[in-house]
Amino acid sequence: MNITTCIFDLDGVIVDTAKYHFLAWKRLAREQFNRDFSIHDNEQLKGVSRVESLNILLRICEQDVPENVKLLLADLKNKWYVEYIKKITPDEILPGVLKFLEELKSQKLKIALASASKNARLLLDRIELTNMFDCIVDGTVVTRAKPDPEVFLKCAEDLDMEPEGCVVFEDAIAGIEAAHAGNMYAVGVGDRHILYKADMVISSFKEINIDSILNLPNLKKYE
Ligand code: G6P
Ligand code: MG
Repeated sequence: MNITTCIFDLDGVIVDTAKYHFLAWKRLAREQFNRDFSIHDNEQLKGVSRVESLNILLRICEQDVPENVKLLLADLKNKWYVEYIKKITPDEILPGVLKFLEELKSQKLKIALASASKNARLLLDRIELTNMFDCIVDGTVVTRAKPDPEVFLKCAEDLDMEPEGCVVFEDAIAGIEAAHAGNMYAVGVGDRHILYKADMVISSFKEINIDSILNLPNLKKYE
């Protein structure tokens, strides 16, 4: 099957927002529970929804709070996070991303955005990339979190493309698993020791071009 579509995760793939999520979660742990939240702890939150991230943080901080308080805490963290991303500019698009997207477009491949974030559109507007995508599926639309393939399958459906012709770019293990669960190829963006389940791993978009993607069918497909 020919590759027709490239589907991009947002946080950690197109822009490095993990640091802003981290700063906001760290502040929540410090101000609400007087606990430290480390960059190592933060690894567990990548690709994970806001509410589930809060549950993980509460476990790490050994806190048990009622559901109504959880909503307040999640809102507080989001308020701080939004303050950070409102200041983001197109300069923060990760190296090589723009050139790669433009290459895909010039070759008439479809480009989709698949993110668990409810702030995805705000972020895309800030980095001036909204119009680059043929389809945007974000946390306001999906009901099942990665590793469920819903977010990626919805992109394929919206674009009227077969999942087997889609390549997903992901920095989170759960995202790689979700792509495979949807019968799509997965390119890991980050550390190959962490993302070893991917069909191919890059540390930056400066390392690939469209030929690397069109040759993907030669790789062994994940069973
Ligand atoms: C992405 C990020 C996660 C974040 C989630 C929800 O998947 O990798 O760290 O928790 O989106 O983001 P939101 O902006 O809706 O809180
Ligand atoms: Mg991500």
